[in-house]
Amino acid sequence: MAATEHVNPLVSRKEGPLKGRAVAPGDKSVSHRALILGALAVGETAVSGLLEADDVLNTAAAMRGLGADVVRESEGRWRIHGVGVGGFSEPSDVLDFGNSGTGVRLTMGAVATVPITTIFTGDASLRRRPMRRVLDPLALFGAVAEAREGWLLPVTLKGARQPVPVEHRLQVPSAQVKSALILAALNVPGRSTIIERVATRDHTERMLKAFGADIAVEEIEEGATAISIAGETELRPTKIDVPSDPSSAAFPLVAALIVPGSEIVLENVMLNPRRIGLIETLLEMGAGIEIRNRRDNGGEATGDLVVRHSVLKGVEVPPERAPAMIDEYPVLAVAAAFAVGRTIMRGLEELRVKESDRLSAVAAGLAVNGVRFTESNDGLTVEGAGPGGVPGGGRVATQMDHRIAMSFLTMGLAARAPVTVDDGSMIVTSFPNFQDLMRGLGAGIQALEE
Ligand code: S3P
Repeated sequence: MAATEHVNPLVSRKEGPLKGRAVAPGDKSVSHRALILGALAVGETAVSGLLEADDVLNTAAAMRGLGADVVRESEGRWRIHGVGVGGFSEPSDVLDFGNSGTGVRLTMGAVATVPITTIFTGDASLRRRPMRRVLDPLALFGAVAEAREGWLLPVTLKGARQPVPVEHRLQVPSAQVKSALILAALNVPGRSTIIERVATRDHTERMLKAFGADIAVEEIEEGATAISIAGETELRPTKIDVPSDPSSAAFPLVAALIVPGSEIVLENVMLNPRRIGLIETLLEMGAGIEIRNRRDNGGEATGDLVVRHSVLKGVEVPPERAPAMIDEYPVLAVAAAFAVGRTIMRGLEELRVKESDRLSAVAAGLAVNGVRFTESNDGLTVEGAGPGGVPGGGRVATQMDHRIAMSFLTMGLAARAPVTVDDGSMIVTSFPNFQDLMRGLGAGIQALEE
């Protein structure tokens, strides 16, 4: 059943310490990109560890809709026979990306320079999210979009018949927009250059190198980066082993830190430098996190995290760290609630345009659970209640946002009273085995009997 079709209230409560080893599911960003680049390569790409969650499955279906042969062989193992750069055929139906901003925006880029017409839609949350940030720069290549009022989905995108190379400075610090432009540039005669002033996750750039693309990344003035891509090059298929998603590992990680007596190991977590802002911040808060078995996994750094219960202290999070932990602020706010002292987070304006307005969703969740905070346009300050000091007992509105649901279920594991989330059904968009994995470590998370 699709995530949006039923409501699934869940409750979490204090039980014993968390113990044991776990492997969080495959990285969502890498999984989307593996499917899309596989679909653009000529020949067979083999993927293991693919995240089999609704967001990624929708991208797999979209790649099939565009003509690629995408086959699931066994759990996490997929094979993709690509059509080659420029080889997408016009889908005979609307492509529905469900809850996924990454799926829809990257695919918009991939079709923007192919002479086909594609119609995009998504669920109620995705249909509220801004698409102009990606459609405007795609127009520079010659693509033409029509959207609902406010540049909202559904969108019809007519790919450029005679695409031209572009040089573009990103207006928003967004890996989705950057990646869309890079994917569009692949089918353009000549070199395109995308400049980013703020470093965002670089999985597209890394994976394209592994597929043999002609892509160069260069530091230019004042810390900005220029990414230059030669178009009309052939992508060579490759093997991709998807490491664990640090944004999913974040929930058992914070849970082990706040539940007294806990000690867990999270295996094979991706440690790309542009994704580890949460770990850096938690270490500054005094978290007992040890990284073991650091290794390179197909161009991405990974390692095992040993996590022990810790008394955390409040910190000021540097705003320039936001892109490296953009999806982790909700769960950081939960960690901050159990810290001693105040945690200050700034530079969070992008949180307002995620699966929900995450800043107000987090603030509302803190409020119903008795945590003191102040919210501004682009910031959140949490007054830590100290270990054992979070009252809990609230019912949190998840607003179709998986990370809000998982963050507040994490809070309930150490709060004085159980925490309820009104709807856990969206969790399947990124972390389908969340409840099983957490329960396997000893966490008290259940369906709510109403
Ligand atoms: C992602 C980029 C980020 C992030 C999202 C995944 C990606 O979004 O929040 O969960 O895979 O490129 P933005 O590009 O909107 O910052």
